[in-house]
This record gives sequence, C-alpha cells and structure tokens, in this order.
Amino acid sequence: MSNLPQQQKAVIFNTTTDALSFTSAAQTPSPHDGHVIKVHSTAITNGELTWAPFVDWPTLHVPCYDVSGTVVTEVAGSPFKVGDAVFGRVHAGREGTAREYATLLPSEAALVPEGLGLEDASAIPMSALTAWQAVFEKGLLTGSYAPASVPRVTDAGEIQGAELAKGKRVLVLGAAGGVGMMAIQFARLAGAYVAGTASGRNDEFVRGLGAEVIDYTTTSLKEYVGGEEGKKFDLVLGCVGGNAMLDGWNAVKDNGTYICVTPGFREPDGGKPAGVRSEWFVMDSRGSELAAIGRFIEKGLVKGWVDSVWKMEDFEKAFAKTATGHARGKVVIKIAQDEE
Ligand SMILES: NC(=O)c1ccc[n+]([C@@H]2O[C@H](COP(=O)([O-])OP(=O)(O)OC[C@H]3O[C@@H](n4cnc5c(N)ncnc54)[C@H](OP(=O)(O)O)[C@@H]3O)[C@@H](O)[C@H]2O)c1
Repeated sequence: MSNLPQQQKAVIFNTTTDALSFTSAAQTPSPHDGHVIKVHSTAITNGELTWAPFVDWPTLHVPCYDVSGTVVTEVAGSPFKVGDAVFGRVHAGREGTAREYATLLPSEAALVPEGLGLEDASAIPMSALTAWQAVFEKGLLTGSYAPASVPRVTDAGEIQGAELAKGKRVLVLGAAGGVGMMAIQFARLAGAYVAGTASGRNDEFVRGLGAEVIDYTTTSLKEYVGGEEGKKFDLVLGCVGGNAMLDGWNAVKDNGTYICVTPGFREPDGGKPAGVRSEWFVMDSRGSELAAIGRFIEKGLVKGWVDSVWKMEDFEKAFAKTATGHARGKVVIKIAQDEE
C-alpha cells in the first residue's frame, strides 16, 4: 500500500450550521472503503448541500460526488490498478470528493476516456449517468433498457442503435445544465428529434448539441405547443423545478412520459394528461455504464461542458456559481496543486 499522508486539505460542509469551510487537517480516507484516489478534480451538483435529509451524513461532511483522479490503492478483484486515471460518481451517502484523497468503489469507477483531460472528466459522471438513466432506463425512449436496445459503441468501434428512437420527439427542460446537455446528446444518439428550453444566452450552445431551442424567457411551453398535439413530445425530461417543471406538463403527449430529476416534482392542478407515465428518480452510480458512455466521448460523439474551474480555496465562489442556477454544464473545483 502506498504511503498516504495522515492529514489532507478538504472542503467541509457543516450539516448543523449549513456552513462550508476549508481545512488542511482532514483525515485521509481508509483504503477499506474502496480504491483511494488522488483527486485531480471534482464537480459540484446544484442543490447537493440540501441532500442531508436523504442520506446519513456526519455533522462535518465532505461535499461533491463527481471525481477524476489517479488510483492510489488496489482493491482485491478490481479491474483498476495503481496509477490508472479513473473517473466516477461517489454515492452521496459516503464522504465526497472535495479533498485531496477520496474513495471510489470499483463498481463506481471507469477509466478516463482517451483524449479527455482530468478537469473535463470530473464534469461527466453525475450528469451523464443521470441523463442516460433518465432517457433510456426511466424514459424508455428506445422501448427497452436491454443492452441491445440502447445506443452503443461495439468493441470493433461501430455505432449501433442510432435509429432506435427515430420519429420520437424529446423535450429537455434546462437544456444548458449538466444533465440537460447530456440528455440532448443521448436522445440524439438514438435518432430522436430533440428540443430544449434555455435562455437566449445559451441558444447557440444548445443548438450545437443538436436541439431546437425554446427560449423560456420569452415563450412558455403552453404557448409553444399552442394547442397542436403534433408539437407535443413523447418524452419530457425535467432538469429544472418550479414553474418551469409545471409548464412541462403542457408539452407531454397523451400516453407520453415525463421524467424529472429535480426535487419537488408534482402533477399539475387538475391532474396530468391522459395516460402519461411520470417519475422522479435518483440516479445510480454505475461504472460499467460510465465506461459505455466514455466510448461515445472517445469517438467525439458526446461531450461534457465545464462552466468554470476554481481553486480549492475558492470553494465558496464555486458553490455560489452553481447556486445561481445558470451555470452552463458543470462547475469544477481543481484539487490537484500540480499541473497535470
Ligand atoms: N435526481 C438525480 O439523480 C439528480 C442527479 C443530478 C442532478 N440532479 C438535479 O438536477 C437539476 C439540474 O442539475 P444540473 O446540474 O443539470 O443543472 P443546473 O446547474 O441546475 O442548471 C443550470 C442550467 O439551468 C438553466 N435554467 C435555469 N432556469 C431555467 C429555466 N427556467 N428553464 C430552462 N433552463 C433553465 C440555465 O440556463 P440559462 O442560463 O440559459 O437559464 C443553466 O444552464 C438540479 O436540481 C440537480 O440537483 C438530480
């Protein structure tokens, strides 16, 4: 086992006072909890500091659950070796990754796709896995979540499943956020027609991902649909809450599907449209699924987006940027001090 320092730098969230702070004297994690990773970068998820009621955090908890970095300790039976560059999403019930050394289970990890930098890699896992599961597992865009029924890159490098959702219309609410931008790309990979809600500031960005843009600052979804059933969507993916989430109901076809990832999902007054299946869910961290997504990244068919990169000591500014609700893609905190 490698010589880990006894103490390390970490960002700490106090669950009693709701305050974030910085320490240079946090305990280094135990290798018994999975691979110890030397963290290169981590990313913030909007709203993550409000998750305490759903998980069993100690009073002093390390936030942030996305990670990229280098494997420092082996785990018996794990495919990952010391020195491997990996990325993944740590279960939010464990200690997070805004620290120099963190733990990642073999089941949560995947090798960083070739050609992807470690800062960029940290922006992927949470958003990509949530979007993948929303589109294919919960949204059933291709009819089934069986391995052969979703888009994939084969071992020979061929793309399969590119027409599985041809003719389907998908709407992504919050198209420029981390989850939304991934959801657009995944639905497009399966051949669906995709539209997304974003402000004019993100028009070019969202169009560049292959989606029609509905500017939510000027047009509600009720206005966009204008009573025409043909302008509604088979699958609506909710990545924003509040009134925008409620407006989403105006755009789901009868017998369509509305999947939401933001907390507070609810039906409209008067009930949902006929036959609509709807669900709010929490993503599951699966390294094998992340590896499959990584193959699309290697082929240049899927990309993440880093809104901004902050030094660890600037954690407050980084969290404040995410909390605006207007970050494009992910806000990253670079933990590694050296230039890698
Ligand atoms: N259930 C789960 O497993 C799970 C997993 C991950 C994340 N989440 C949740 O999913 C939500 C989205 O997270 P995220 O990381 O993708 O993004 P985010 O940081 O919450 O989203 C920021 C984006 O939302 C856009 N936006 C803000 N208000 C909007 C509106 N009214 N209509 C359309 N777009 C709007 C902004 O674009 P403009 O600047 O153009 O307004 C910005 O690009 C969060 O609530 C997060 O907690 C849930």
